[in-house]
Amino acid sequence: MVLKFLFLIVTVGYYANVESGHVPGREGKCEFINESNSMLGNVYSCKIKNAVLHKDEKFTITGPHPSKGRRDMGVKFVEFSSSNISRIPNQVFRKFPNLEYLSMNGVGLRIFNELPHATELKVLLANNNQITKFDANTFEYAKALMILSFRKNQISTIDAKTFINLSHLEDLYLSDNKIAALHMNTFNPLISLQILSLSGNQLQSIDLELFQSNRQLREVLLYDNKLKAIHPQAFSNMESLFNLELHGNECIDIDSRIDEDDFQEKINNDLKSCFEKYPAKE
Ligand SMILES: *[C@@H]1O[C@H](CO)[C@@H](O)[C@H](O)[C@H]1NC(C)=O
Ligand SMILES: *[C@@H]1O[C@H](CO)[C@@H](O)[C@H](O)[C@H]1NC(C)=O
Ligand SMILES: *[C@@H]1O[C@H](CO)[C@@H](O)[C@H](O)[C@H]1NC(C)=O
Repeated sequence: MVLKFLFLIVTVGYYANVESGHVPGREGKCEFINESNSMLGNVYSCKIKNAVLHKDEKFTITGPHPSKGRRDMGVKFVEFSSSNISRIPNQVFRKFPNLEYLSMNGVGLRIFNELPHATELKVLLANNNQITKFDANTFEYAKALMILSFRKNQISTIDAKTFINLSHLEDLYLSDNKIAALHMNTFNPLISLQILSLSGNQLQSIDLELFQSNRQLREVLLYDNKLKAIHPQAFSNMESLFNLELHGNECIDIDSRIDEDDFQEKINNDLKSCFEKYPAKE
């Protein structure tokens, strides 16, 4: 009886809220702990479990600090888990202005909005989600980013201006998505890029321009695509390149790793049949 009555109050309250035009707000509850992080060392962290956020809903982050003298300003690491969050709530960056590391693996992300307050963010992990595309200027304000990881999403479209202003980015992981083509300017802003993973996509061809600004690249992973043709100079400006993985493609099925010989010469031999087929015929 009491339970039934409670249920009635809750239900009526919910519908009253919806009818008066208020979108029901969602709450994420932080558990604040000192977390040992491989990149940041021992840092003050907020861990959020069982959060739900659908499109257009508001999100509030709550939870008491465990001791006096601890503040939101001190939080550098936030992790969501066991949650269903359709987009990254900007509230995360408003509440924790010094956030450097955000982990959102397997939490149902669908929409990737701009991150206007993510000015201190260095690492963003968003693997195993359902993101389908990136629009222009997505990371314009997240200029401190060093690592971005979107493995195992559904990404098929990347705007040519998606990565503008990411001049400090060192690692970009886009493996196991649905990328069939890339605009030749897409990676232009990434002048510090060292590791690029595009394995497990549907790329067919690599043009000369695609990697021309990425002179610091050390590892390029392009295995398990549908590559038919590669421009003969596509990798020639990468002086530190030591690992080029291309197995599982149409024109090549081996990887090239550094050995005693001149690496660029090795690439020229290994990739001969890809180079000869450039430009690819439809
Ligand atoms: C976290 O570390 C700070 C300083 O290193 C310490 O004062 C605090 O008690 C620790 N808090 C917890 C919950 O372990
Ligand atoms: C997550 O939420 C979306 C709506 O935003 C819903 O369609 C989906 O079924 C939910 N997934 C899970 C695993 O609950
Ligand atoms: C991003 O880069 C563009 C072009 O280089 C520049 O005009 C813009 O001011 C930059 N944005 C920010 C937030 O610094």
